[in-house]
Amino acid sequence: PTIFFITPTYKRLTQKADLTRLSQTLLHVPKLHWILVEDSHEKTNLVQRFLAGCGVQFSHLAVRTPKQLITKEGDPRWLKARGVEQRNLGLKWIRQNYKDGIDGVIYFGDDDNTYDLKIFEQMRYTKKISVWPVGLVGGLKWEGPICKDGSVVKFYTLWKPQRPMPLDMAGFAINAKLIIDNPDVEMDTMAARGYLESSIVSRLATRGEFEPLANNCKEILVWHTQTAEPKMKQEDRLKQMGFESDPSMEV
Ligand code: UGA
Ligand code: MN
Repeated sequence: PTIFFITPTYKRLTQKADLTRLSQTLLHVPKLHWILVEDSHEKTNLVQRFLAGCGVQFSHLAVRTPKQLITKEGDPRWLKARGVEQRNLGLKWIRQNYKDGIDGVIYFGDDDNTYDLKIFEQMRYTKKISVWPVGLVGGLKWEGPICKDGSVVKFYTLWKPQRPMPLDMAGFAINAKLIIDNPDVEMDTMAARGYLESSIVSRLATRGEFEPLANNCKEILVWHTQTAEPKMKQEDRLKQMGFESDPSMEV
């Protein structure tokens, strides 16, 4: 089976660094197709060049998040979900390109997370929906399924545990056939806070069907790391004086 790895991405100072680190993880994963979806009206030159040189098999897509769904300056970061339209476009691409059948698994991963290679090999054989814990998320050291005898009995999270999928986006994978067979299922752009993952998963499988990975969910193989925003104090000063760093250097 092929792993379809859907990643939303957007322009920022650390974008190329994050994409470089991620691509060099993905280079170690056989039979992986990277669907990188830019949050932008058009594909940018930076990402185009980056993908052409990164060595990973990819499809490059772009869709801008509609205005009413973008977090405004001063709004808290959690107010609106990020990367939703982009993930849905990735699903649409898969549906359009695999009308005659598909042998694969779909995984949604942020461009700034950290992935142990082991999780890719484990998720590859997902029958419906596989799950595993995620490190450094939800204000905890980790969040994730608690399992007994190979089934999920509950979820360890301090926040709305009654959600159908109280787990970060990076903590589950979906058999691609389910996505082809259920052509209307996608992430709900209007989902209430914390219900984005549930909005897609709850329409595809029940809790009892979740397949625990990562050693019965006792191992952390994915971390919700977040890249710090670099300080540009000197750059801003130089800019004010009309001497910003050479803009032809792509960072
Ligand atoms: C957390 C989860 O890890 C995400 O899977 C979830 O989409 C997000 O919360 C949310 O629902 O808000 P977090 O680390 O807080 O993500 O956010 P980012 O990593 O900044 O964004 C998630 C993904 O969307 C990233 O791949 C990022 O590149 C992309 N993104 C972010 C956009 O495409 N557009 C944006 O304006 C911001
Ligand atoms: Mn992130």
